[in-house]
Amino acid sequence: MGPVIATEASASADAGAGAATTSRIPGFYRLSVAERRDLVGLAPPDLPIDVADRMSENVIGRHGLPLSVALNLRLNDRDVLVPMAVEEPSVVAAASRAALRVRAGGGFFGDADPPIMTAQVQLDAVPHPDGAAARLAACRDEILAIGDAAIPSMVARGGGCRDLELRVLDAAEGMVVVDLHVHVGDAMGANLVDTVAEATAPALAARLGGRIGLRILTNLPLRRRVRVRASVPVAELGGPSGAAGVVRATRFAELDPMRAVTHNKGIMNGIDAAAVALGQDWRAIEAGAHAFAALGGRYRPLSSWQIEGDALVGRLELPLAVGTVGGATGVHPGVRAALALTGVASAGELAMVLAAAGLASNLAALHALAGEGIQRGHMRLHRRRLEAAAPGGAAAPGGAAAPDASAHQGGRDALLG
Ligand code: MEV
Repeated sequence: MGPVIATEASASADAGAGAATTSRIPGFYRLSVAERRDLVGLAPPDLPIDVADRMSENVIGRHGLPLSVALNLRLNDRDVLVPMAVEEPSVVAAASRAALRVRAGGGFFGDADPPIMTAQVQLDAVPHPDGAAARLAACRDEILAIGDAAIPSMVARGGGCRDLELRVLDAAEGMVVVDLHVHVGDAMGANLVDTVAEATAPALAARLGGRIGLRILTNLPLRRRVRVRASVPVAELGGPSGAAGVVRATRFAELDPMRAVTHNKGIMNGIDAAAVALGQDWRAIEAGAHAFAALGGRYRPLSSWQIEGDALVGRLELPLAVGTVGGATGVHPGVRAALALTGVASAGELAMVLAAAGLASNLAALHALAGEGIQRGHMRLHRRRLEAAAPGGAAAPGGAAAPDASAHQGGRDALLG
């Protein structure tokens, strides 16, 4: 399915012929799974067991998670349905609800750096390390050419080695690292840059001296950042006090790393859920995000919220290495279908979708925490899981009684819109 276009739809019986035309689908949650699949035009294919067996080792089965879509997201004037795979109740509802608020202000806007990944070659016992940068400058073109020769198909697609730099990590030990910056197209790029690191290391050691150490990418791809911005009319947040609460929550995170990590966990709720559904390396994403948060020597929130005129404006920036080709996107049919559902045309656009999902999740969390708290809404949805754990409406584990069905539905209405 191609990009979802923006016209208001309703999840009434007559709205469901064929694919969805918008990410704004009121009442979607009330439909059956089959009706939702009809509406978005996707019945995600399962992972065949023989494919699973080739994706990993010692395979004995497939691991399932709920695959949902977060609604209401609009990014750079385009509606996007965001696939999410997550075990935690309320992540999808919260992101959808917050995206609706952001939508009232025009949606998310973002941009992404070119897809530059960085390979690292460690050299030990380099003689005269202070002169190593000059020695590297003298063989720069030769090294870049060796790197390019190792990844010919990426070079043919317009990617390849772009730049390199050297840092002396410990002059007394002669420990030096060469960072090679590689344009990886629409791939996540780990294998490509690892190949470049291994291919260039012998020549680097020959030109700079010293012993070859590690040859591997960094998961802090500082040249591959994504930025998203959201402007929410203050009225959408229950007025000035709702917006001020979000600003105060950000300030708390700026002042306290213990709060900042939880603030960032709320962002990663959206990013990781989408990353898992879309077959991305979420461990790499997590490692890069938290390293970026700590880059200045103090762990900080990845997003900020402030009041500008009559709007609450949020900004999020982080390095995000994602791909629309290669890895699971090449072999997992469900991932390929989920990716197609987003309608993204490039890895950069995919990064913006993930970041927007992250900023939406962050807004939902901060707004709830600064207001009534998250437990009421969260527990409403959490109870459904307990019901699933105790089929037939029996008492939930831990002795909690099954909730009244109509109260339960009212709660879902409030959360899911
Ligand atoms: C829970 O999964 C995420 C939150 O803790 C995030 C936050 O505190 O900002 C609610």
